[in-house]
Amino acid sequence: MKKAFITGITGQDGYYLTKLLIEKDYEVHGTIRRSSTFNTSRIDGLISQYSSDKLLNLYYSDLLDSSSLSSLIQKIQPDEVYNLAAQSHVAVSFKNPYYSTSTSTAGVISLLEVVKNIEKDVKFYQASSSEMYGGVSTDSLNEESLLEPKSPYAAGKVFAYNMTKIYRESYKKFCVNGILFNHESPLRGETFVTRKISRAVGRIHNNIQSKLTLGNLEAFRDWGFAGDYVEGMWLMMQHDKPDDWVLATGETHSVKEFCKLAFDVVGLDWENYVLTDEKYQRPNEVNHLLGDPSKAKKELGWEPKTSFKKLVENMVESDCKLAEREKVLIDNNLLKPSWENPTTT
Ligand code: NAP
Ligand code: GDD
Repeated sequence: MKKAFITGITGQDGYYLTKLLIEKDYEVHGTIRRSSTFNTSRIDGLISQYSSDKLLNLYYSDLLDSSSLSSLIQKIQPDEVYNLAAQSHVAVSFKNPYYSTSTSTAGVISLLEVVKNIEKDVKFYQASSSEMYGGVSTDSLNEESLLEPKSPYAAGKVFAYNMTKIYRESYKKFCVNGILFNHESPLRGETFVTRKISRAVGRIHNNIQSKLTLGNLEAFRDWGFAGDYVEGMWLMMQHDKPDDWVLATGETHSVKEFCKLAFDVVGLDWENYVLTDEKYQRPNEVNHLLGDPSKAKKELGWEPKTSFKKLVENMVESDCKLAEREKVLIDNNLLKPSWENPTTT
């Protein structure tokens, strides 16, 4: 049985990757952070299903805690390490640049050093990002395109991307970069734009929210489904030689289009509900991202299976169900009616 070690297992991709690997007969080991509230809600179902058989095993750690990452990997002796952990919100990285970049940079060095020094051949996956391209041109972006980071988040990711290549080339280690374009799901964090929209549509449809306030409606993203993208991560780790691959859909849509489609699902006109506010604008915006996944298609046989329309429908339908449950709690005075959370970004 193969063993995988995952940082960031409690995140969106952590859930989908863990599920996929367990279905493929892996034993999964993942790091969680100590938090004053429970932070495992995405993987609670997997924990109750698989932890008693030791197919899923969790440990406290942090990207900044080099010693715990190193001793965990030495103890577990995984076959594959997936570095998914990050402060992954671009707007927040402008507010917390030191933390956002130091976690991305220190974390990757700690992990690569163990991969370099451990006796066993351990494969390493780095969660690189389309954000590294900077989104200046409207061209389709591939593995050869120029990296022009526009945020502290992206600068940290460029560092980690380069270190992954450096360890691959210098020490002949199996280190890969998955350069993933935006991927979403019903489990997407609620402060990313797609989920912020689908949550609002669910609530507005259930009469527990009246408006949705966003920032730049003219930004374009190449949005796919996270469940499809974790398959690509795994395929990269099974390839006969390590390399870097772009995962994307090859289609791009604006935030405005996402809004229109999402409100259409419940038969509402988005223009009656969506407002904009400067506070959601970023100091430096990535205007346009469009990916070219042809290398992944040719070499890995990977293709996204979920259309943009289906992705939006799935997210809105899931959030309508969530809002229905919230409404019952509100009607019974067990929850306060929703207002915009002041920490929303
Ligand atoms: P996510 O939902 O924000 O999850 C991030 C994970 O990292 C969470 O488990 C989080 O733990 C953990 N984490 C944050 N700071 C940490 C620290 N200092 N030490 C240890 N763990 C820490 O992100 P995602 O969407 O699943 O994305 C996974 C990775 O892919 C990230 O590296 C992201 O930057 C990258 N990426 C994402 C996309 C995308 O569109 N989703 C595209 C390209 C690249 P808590 O649960 O405790 O917060
Ligand atoms: N979050 C957010 N909130 N974004 C908004 C809003 C809003 O109210 N209004 C407009 N936007 C715009 C942002 O300015 C950006 O251009 C676009 O919507 C997408 O923003 P996010 O959903 O926050 O994602 P992101 O593209 O910045 O970053 C995500 O994708 C990257 C891959 O390209 C994250 O998952 C990163 O971790 C990932 O690397």
